[in-house]
Amino acid sequence: MMAMGKAAGAELLSDYAISLSRLASGMSRSYFSARCGLKPYPWQKTVLDSKAKFKIILGARQSGKSTIVSVPPAYKSKRKRKALSLVIAPTRAQANEDIIKIKDLISADPDHPSLKRNSAFEIEFYNGSRIIVVTATDKAARGYSAPDIIILDEASRIPDTVYASAVLPMQTASPDDFELIVISTPYGKDGFFYDIWNGSEVFRKFEVSAPWHVDERYPTTLFKAEDEEIFTRRLGEKGIIASYSPQHWNYEQQSEILRQQGTLIYRQEFLCEFVDRDDAVFRRDDLDRAFFPAGKVRPMDYGPKDTDSIPAVEPFGLKKIGGRYF
Ligand SMILES: Nc1ncnc2c1ncn2[C@@H]1O[C@H](COP(=O)(O)OP(=O)(O)OP(=O)(O)O)[C@@H](O)[C@H]1O
Ligand SMILES: [Mg+2]
Repeated sequence: MMAMGKAAGAELLSDYAISLSRLASGMSRSYFSARCGLKPYPWQKTVLDSKAKFKIILGARQSGKSTIVSVPPAYKSKRKRKALSLVIAPTRAQANEDIIKIKDLISADPDHPSLKRNSAFEIEFYNGSRIIVVTATDKAARGYSAPDIIILDEASRIPDTVYASAVLPMQTASPDDFELIVISTPYGKDGFFYDIWNGSEVFRKFEVSAPWHVDERYPTTLFKAEDEEIFTRRLGEKGIIASYSPQHWNYEQQSEILRQQGTLIYRQEFLCEFVDRDDAVFRRDDLDRAFFPAGKVRPMDYGPKDTDSIPAVEPFGLKKIGGRYF
């Protein structure tokens, strides 16, 4: 478990030495993660090592989305003094899952800065860095100044008011290397998550989907989707870095989920499609057509344009380090 309670001065010195040595070694986040025993899947590696400041991840259920929530805050708290990482989750249960994953990762790091405070939803280190996980209410998510990282887990379930009144203002005074990571399965054709995915040119987009296809004419049958190479290329043409989830190749298991949950839910939860909510009174597409005739783009502003700092090509695949692939 995490060590606590050594003399603060000695801690500060050793933390400083550690962060200097890491800086010199240039360890990537995916390498850091693997070193802590969490070897990222290729899609997770691509996200973790992406230099884009604004990232949005549209992912299938159980594809490993929340698992990567833990890496950027843990890495940042090690690399930077007085760093603030904020994770916002829609429910207390989800927040709890996220903080557990973060604490597990930190516990597995052999030379992480020592803990000064370890409470239910906040971790503070002797180097002054903090990781805070909050439930997405306007009040709870407000009031943190200049965070280095903000991560929204299951963002499609986070109210728009939290994004508008807490997440956007906090970016105003954020440091140059600020990072916003928005992660979710889809949930209806509205809300900031849907809008960012469909309209933003600022965010780097990642998609991880189940490798299956459903056909409305055969609602209980799964079909093999197009080859991953074709899928990746097709979505790449739309500016999306896409891959199939390695967790979803089991045909029997996925068929059973389709049979139990039905086509609509399977398409939403596993094929990453924004489907209309069952209970929607108006279909969002119809509303869009009524209010925004063809060719008219809905007005949208999600912060400063940062496309200059986004590299044109993302590295794919694994890196060979010391004879092992990470
Ligand atoms: N790189 C990995 N290697 C091995 N197992 C992994 C990896 N990433 C995630 N997992 C495992 O996959 C499962 C799902 O992970 P996680 O909870 O992160 O997914 P999720 O997409 O957030 O799920 P949900 O949609 O339910 O929120 C967990 O059991 C987790 O431990
Ligand atoms: Mg999750």
